[in-house]
Amino acid sequence: MKKETVAICGLGYVGYPVAMLFADADFNVIGVDILEDRVKRLNAGENPIKGQEPGLDELVEKVFKVGNFRATSDMSEYGSANYIVVAVQTPVAEENKKPTYENLKGALKGIGQNMKEGVTIIIESTIAPGTMEHVVKPILEKESGLEAGEGFYLANCPERLMPGHLLENIRYYNRVVGGWTPESAEIVKKLYKNFVEGELQETDCITAEIVKAGENTYRDVQIAFANEMALLCEAYGANVWKVREFINNCKKVTETRPEALRQMHFPGAGVGGHCIPKDSWLLIHEVRDIVNPKLIPTARYINDFMPLHMYDLLKDGVKEAGKELKDMNILVLGYAYDANSDDDRNTPTVPLMGKLKENGIKFEIQDPFINDYQGDIESMLKGKDAIVVMTGHDQYKELSYEKMLKLMGKKPLIIDGRNIFNKEEAREKGFIYKGVGNI
Ligand SMILES: NC(=O)c1ccc[n+]([C@@H]2O[C@H](COP(=O)([O-])OP(=O)(O)OC[C@H]3O[C@@H](n4cnc5c(N)ncnc54)[C@H](O)[C@@H]3O)[C@@H](O)[C@H]2O)c1
Repeated sequence: MKKETVAICGLGYVGYPVAMLFADADFNVIGVDILEDRVKRLNAGENPIKGQEPGLDELVEKVFKVGNFRATSDMSEYGSANYIVVAVQTPVAEENKKPTYENLKGALKGIGQNMKEGVTIIIESTIAPGTMEHVVKPILEKESGLEAGEGFYLANCPERLMPGHLLENIRYYNRVVGGWTPESAEIVKKLYKNFVEGELQETDCITAEIVKAGENTYRDVQIAFANEMALLCEAYGANVWKVREFINNCKKVTETRPEALRQMHFPGAGVGGHCIPKDSWLLIHEVRDIVNPKLIPTARYINDFMPLHMYDLLKDGVKEAGKELKDMNILVLGYAYDANSDDDRNTPTVPLMGKLKENGIKFEIQDPFINDYQGDIESMLKGKDAIVVMTGHDQYKELSYEKMLKLMGKKPLIIDGRNIFNKEEAREKGFIYKGVGNI
């Protein structure tokens, strides 16, 4: 027998797998998205996420056999829901890094105008701390005429997932449930227990908002540290990957100390995706003028610089080869921002492309997961002077030096932004190799 109705607002990387999990837990699930073409494809049973997502195809097939998911663009459908989960995008504006909330506000308006009394509304989108109080609650109350905590329940239950591990992350990661009231948090906790095996930790909205944006900011700052270490290692003539290995090898030395692990992150060709490049800005948004934070914006600038540094490494490599940049014919490997994913939002490949274009350098792009760039890699390697590795897709790791030497031009270059080749081996075989943090 079907349980209650859950409406999922926004069927992207977050909303779609969440919808599938609710459906699999025997809820009647209505997915709402403004993209009519996506709605059509989802109703035909298509999994819209094309990267490697263990278990998702099978889950989609199972859910469609049972038939308790359907998608729509009709907002009046919110009226039948007992629970509404909001998972729309929450970008920041390019010019001032402030949240735009166009999609979030549109979604809240549609929900507020159609929701029934007693419904529970859960914001899964990542939002700037204070948004539940200053944006979400006022819009819902105005549009519905109901009061949060009285006429409806309200909570912030942010997602912690990463493309490539969507189902695993949703099912097994601990997560915070920030309730507008303790009762709201209690209801949401009970709801998510239907498929979340991780711990559901109750708190208030402001704490949950800070935890989510803060967690991604932590990662951004850590990656920036690793990137700066990479730049230092390049200048010292050291290998950042060796340095990282030794730093992270600091383990438990005595019984009284906990496992004091250092966890230096990976340096690389840049940070992308919908989340990490904007969540730092969301975190500091409301209090920026009071606190004047320095570390967090600096980390952002360091990470944004890395694709441009890839261009500098290319320039150095070309010089070492005794060639001219203008004569180079380059293959850029990777357009998605992350390995084995089809997610290309805020990809570091775009700023690199900008640099190459600006300097009139001939290049092609290959990416097995992106429709526009799925050319045959071996044909594309033919006659190329350099490869620039922007994404660590498994397919690239399988490229043999011998094959590349056969296909590419004389004295070929490897510019490695993801440490997928071995510097010593590549040089021994006759390549010019420059890697981030390892030149
Ligand atoms: N992608 C991730 O790895 C990830 C991880 C954790 C949290 N988040 C957060 O989750 C949120 C969603 O991210 P995503 O990656 O799923 O975004 P997405 O762009 O993949 O999906 C958002 C979907 O919402 C739809 N939408 C926009 N406005 C709408 C409206 N008014 N009504 C109905 N649908 C609407 C869009 O058409 C789109 O399909 C963001 O706040 C993001 O920061 C994302």
